[in-house]
Amino acid sequence: MKIAKTIDEIRMIVTEATMFDKKVGFVPTMGALHAGHISLIKKAKQQCEFVVVSIFVNPTQFGPTEDLNKYPKPFDADIAICKSNGADAVFAPSAEEMYPERNLTWVNVEKLSEPLCGKSRPTHFRGVATVCAKLFNIVQPDIAFFGQKDAQQVIIIKRMVADLNMPMRIAVCPIVREPDGLAMSSRNKYLNAAERKDAPLLYASLQEAQLLINGGECKSAFITEQMKKILNISKLAEIDYISIVNADTLEEIEEIKGKVLIALAVKMPSARLIDNIMLDVE
Ligand code: PAJ
Repeated sequence: MKIAKTIDEIRMIVTEATMFDKKVGFVPTMGALHAGHISLIKKAKQQCEFVVVSIFVNPTQFGPTEDLNKYPKPFDADIAICKSNGADAVFAPSAEEMYPERNLTWVNVEKLSEPLCGKSRPTHFRGVATVCAKLFNIVQPDIAFFGQKDAQQVIIIKRMVADLNMPMRIAVCPIVREPDGLAMSSRNKYLNAAERKDAPLLYASLQEAQLLINGGECKSAFITEQMKKILNISKLAEIDYISIVNADTLEEIEEIKGKVLIALAVKMPSARLIDNIMLDVE
């Protein structure tokens, strides 16, 4: 497995792979890799002959009061994980390599970046879309692999790729969970024992929503209220949002119908957690 720290190096590595007609799969990450990331690498390896993983804690997607400086960076462990799961190359640039000057060019996917997480993180998705556009231009993959865990992120990236005619495809992989239902996340490391104990309530509230819908309930307001009751069992969890939206437009819906995304974010004292489920309701 090759490790590239500069844009020139990774371009050379990918060019060599494409000379042999290899299909290039790309898994962008911020490192601190866990089973969720591994599932993306494995999926990429199934579909592509050459898999590039990027490890870059992207400063432009963090707000001024967020955790940029304390984001975990277990670089050697990450490299070992990439290697043992079949990655062919890792691109791990410095912030100076990616942003040699103050960035003046931004990719802003309007409308889709505003609701849900966009409300409390107003510049987040602009940073995500911009770094993904840069990474896609650098790696030029055939397919980039994203997790359903960050549902709004992948909807935005798909739209960016379509709107800007980027010659590639986005593949979406299911959420990998801990045995108690908590969605795996690099930020779960921040949780103390009491917070970790309450964290599975996010998925429990989504399962309750699923049960209600399976039983014929279709009023979003009622479902949201029941989800709140479950989350409020925790004295530590502060609800940021619970949203029931159309999965294409991210617009709030009153009645459950068609492709529906139920998404939530909860602030624990040590970390903000997100989770979601996607449904297709007749
Ligand atoms: P990061 O949080 O490291 O996540 C990298 C990829 O792993 C994303 O596509 C995310 O959805 C996926 N992922 C994370 N947890 C997962 C889980 N439990 N199950 C399945 N997939 C999971 O998302 C980012 O980094 C950044 O915003 C990035 C796209 C790299 C741009 O900087």
